[in-house]
Amino acid sequence: MKIVMLGAGYVGLVSGACFSEFGVDVTCVDPDETKIARLHDGIIPIFEPGLDELVTKNVQAGRLAFATSLSKCDPEVDAIFIAVGTPTRRGDGHADLTYVYQAAKDIAAYLKPDHFTVIVTKSTVPIGTGREVERIIREANPKANFGMASNPEFLREGSAIGDFMRPDRVVFGTNSEQAAEVMKALYRPLYLIETPIVQTSLETSEMTKYAANAFLATKITFINEIADLCEKVGANVQDVAKGIGLDGRIGKKFLHAGPGYGGSCFPKDTLALVKTANAVGSPMRIVETVVDINARRKQSMAQRVIDAAGGNVKGMKIAVLGVAFKPNTDDMRDSVALDVIPALQKAGAVVQAFDPVAMGEAAKLLPDVTWSKDTYDALSGAGVAVILTEWNEFRAIDFDRAKSLMAAPVLVDLRNVYNPDEIRAQGFSYTSIGRA
Ligand SMILES: NC(=O)c1ccc[n+]([C@@H]2O[C@H](COP(=O)([O-])OP(=O)(O)OC[C@H]3O[C@@H](n4cnc5c(N)ncnc54)[C@H](O)[C@@H]3O)[C@@H](O)[C@H]2O)c1
Repeated sequence: MKIVMLGAGYVGLVSGACFSEFGVDVTCVDPDETKIARLHDGIIPIFEPGLDELVTKNVQAGRLAFATSLSKCDPEVDAIFIAVGTPTRRGDGHADLTYVYQAAKDIAAYLKPDHFTVIVTKSTVPIGTGREVERIIREANPKANFGMASNPEFLREGSAIGDFMRPDRVVFGTNSEQAAEVMKALYRPLYLIETPIVQTSLETSEMTKYAANAFLATKITFINEIADLCEKVGANVQDVAKGIGLDGRIGKKFLHAGPGYGGSCFPKDTLALVKTANAVGSPMRIVETVVDINARRKQSMAQRVIDAAGGNVKGMKIAVLGVAFKPNTDDMRDSVALDVIPALQKAGAVVQAFDPVAMGEAAKLLPDVTWSKDTYDALSGAGVAVILTEWNEFRAIDFDRAKSLMAAPVLVDLRNVYNPDEIRAQGFSYTSIGRA
């Protein structure tokens, strides 16, 4: 089979590489010439474990190619996936569909009347977008022979390849039998390993993605509020999470209390869902509250650091360990570091930070930070250290060495990486989340 993946970002590149690993002939198209030139040179523009090897292997096998325009692709493909960005629209919080609609216009100019192609939205798009994409294509190219499908992506950055190749489920929605057959053929390797496949209408599939992200964001926010209460009443949120998570009805995932969710999906998708719900007169008050609580939580984290430092950080060096929104990615989108670091700087702190892979991205967004060469370089002279991202290498800090390097032994662990008793026994003043 042959497909085109429009967009060579996190989702497009990973999905394209994984489909090619399934044996499909894939061309990833992206108008970003620098990105495509780098891919042609064998340079992967994002950090994602295993992606480098997977891309190299499939390019060499002749199943994965890159282009800057659809016009350079084979005119007869089975499916075109739209995997372009859907960021928050400036000013009103709705999903910005500019890239999706541009992709629809590009597709309209490409489709031929004598060859059936499935147009698949893989981007996370508000309910009704698939219909609008269909309308745009039909209007621009009335003779185009195509069917629409929605196939939201549930991969997680940092474990994206495993998530794509062995997903909990695949969801796709379409109102076209012919399109459904193509989708089933594309996902045949996953049928063979008995992956649950949920086939729905276009709208239901679009809704399922938002419902999944809103639910997960709600679960995180719930445990974060429980953590705050634990601090007041002398309970331990990690034990509470274990105690409730072992209940099969609740499940133990997404019950790690922390500084609030970030990343490229939850913040924008919860907001977009709230906007859609309001626009159709069916407000989602739970999700609205989650959005509000999470935003305030992220903003409040700097104050925790300032309090741990004794209430005043003017002129103090602060070591920030980890800036990516989560480990195993260099993605900085809506990372809590973007709230915490500027607030600390505003309070007069001198921030010196280290992240194993995200410093290049972070430096574009966070001015006036001293980027350190490793953990201990960041700790040198610091009056307080803050763990913002739970990279594995921050799980085994040599605290004797840290103490000798720091101006004061103060650790704020916003990811609950360490055992409080053990760290305090090493002579550190230690603050974490939800553990009195
Ligand atoms: N990142 C994730 O973990 C994740 C997970 C699931 C779903 N999603 C969703 O997938 C979509 C893509 O997210 P992403 O993180 O990959 O975004 P991204 O910003 O990393 O990549 C988007 C790419 O699309 C390209 N593009 C823009 N217009 C184009 C066009 N007309 N034709 C071809 N390419 C075009 C851009 O140049 C960019 O390289 C979003 O809707 C997102 O919500 C993301």
